[in-house]
Amino acid sequence: MAKEIKLEPSRSFREFRLLTGKTTIKNITSKVSLRTKLCTLPGKKGKFINLNIPFISAAMQAVTGIRMGIALAQHGGIGVTPCSIPISEQVSIIQGVKQFKAGFHEDVFCVKATDSLKSVAKTIKEKGYNSFPVTSNGKMNGKLLGVIRDREFDLKGDLDLTVKERMSKRYLTAKEGITLKDSNSLMIKNGATHVYVMDTKSHLKFVVFRKDLLRQMEYPEGTIDHNRRYCIAGSVSTQPKDQKRVDALIEAEADAIFIDSSDGFTQFQKDVIDYVRTKSKTIPVIGGNVITREGFRFLAESGFNAVKVGMGIGSGCITQEQKGTGRGQATAIREIVEERDIYLKETGTYIPIISDGGIGNSSHMVIGLAMGSDSIMMGRFFAQYSESSSAMRKHPQLGPVKEYWMEASNRARNYGRYETSKDLFFEEGVEGFVPLTGSMHDNIWEPIQKIKSALSNAGCANIPEFHKDAVLELQSIASIQDGGIHDIITN
Ligand code: IMP
Repeated sequence: MAKEIKLEPSRSFREFRLLTGKTTIKNITSKVSLRTKLCTLPGKKGKFINLNIPFISAAMQAVTGIRMGIALAQHGGIGVTPCSIPISEQVSIIQGVKQFKAGFHEDVFCVKATDSLKSVAKTIKEKGYNSFPVTSNGKMNGKLLGVIRDREFDLKGDLDLTVKERMSKRYLTAKEGITLKDSNSLMIKNGATHVYVMDTKSHLKFVVFRKDLLRQMEYPEGTIDHNRRYCIAGSVSTQPKDQKRVDALIEAEADAIFIDSSDGFTQFQKDVIDYVRTKSKTIPVIGGNVITREGFRFLAESGFNAVKVGMGIGSGCITQEQKGTGRGQATAIREIVEERDIYLKETGTYIPIISDGGIGNSSHMVIGLAMGSDSIMMGRFFAQYSESSSAMRKHPQLGPVKEYWMEASNRARNYGRYETSKDLFFEEGVEGFVPLTGSMHDNIWEPIQKIKSALSNAGCANIPEFHKDAVLELQSIASIQDGGIHDIITN
């Protein structure tokens, strides 16, 4: 006989509904904030990385690449890059996101005065840049000699000339030490598109771009780091070979490391955080996935900065069928949130909880948050947007669809997530499609608005209030049926 057989069935988010609380002018939908805690900051008790929306895109090949990372950070969430791709590919996604809207760019493409305009024209065509600092060594940190822009030369007629013959000496400069705010005001006052920041010897240290300022104005809720770059996280497996991946993620300045594992109640998770801490005392490390209070406590006591919860409930996951392991997400979250609160009372440390997997629509999001999750990690939900990493296809019945494949499908073969290997691999996930909804930029307002509206119905103005005051009720099958469309014929 097993050590214990729990006879109370585990529950899904789908089985619960939120009851109403008193709505006042303080918590009408337009006043609701979805700001939430992603993770604690190591060594800074009581400090967190915060998100403006509680959304995290899953560490999956089909989901999080550069476009997803940028778009989600623009709206106030964060993407997690998968660890089932080569390290160099993962690093280049992180770099792509970081470079998209840096405040002070340190690695701008420069040219030399002796370079030919032909090579500049080639770079314009290949990389899409249209302005290049001209420095003594053709690199950042060289002496700034001029600027060459696509408008300064004839892209057809001048190609035999050198940069020196066409470069401009009219550009805006500032001294190293200027704040981003001051360099932005300087740029606006002078109607300039760039500020070139130099040290006392006229060596080019940074470039500030007007387009970054415009992007900041367009997405004021964006998740940004101390350098005003968009935030992006990286995942690693617990396999020892991924120590190299940890090193690369730290070097690339990922904002957090997520351990990607289907069963996070393992000694290997502690081994990973111990290794990370020999390399960085400051990068947050998120552990998981766990589904029991014991699993949570193990990760909390191992020093993790947030914990992911969920096993066997992802949209294309077949773990429960294959191995019989897993748990209803509502039960897992409820138990772990209870343990998190006990841990908080004992230690004074609040560990954010991430609900990972199985969330397909805004009603599940609302219930997950009400139960005490601080944020939600989603794969299928983000796969529906054009920014997800997968290819778009025309499905004969469904029209435009995006390919979506799980990490333990034959296509992704993420051995690290399942502590397996090439020879012993079996599938724990399937491969399929999700209907394409369009761009995240045009559509993400809708789930956000629905969640805000639910908080307002519950009489709550923000997520901490929601955690404290939400009242949920388990539904009977009949009441769930009543809550759906019934007794009418729809068009
Ligand atoms: P979804 O949002 O329901 O599609 O679930 C996404 C989550 O499922 C991910 O964040 C992972 O935690 C989990 N997951 C990813 N790949 C697999 C798999 O192959 N089997 C089981 N779970 C998976």
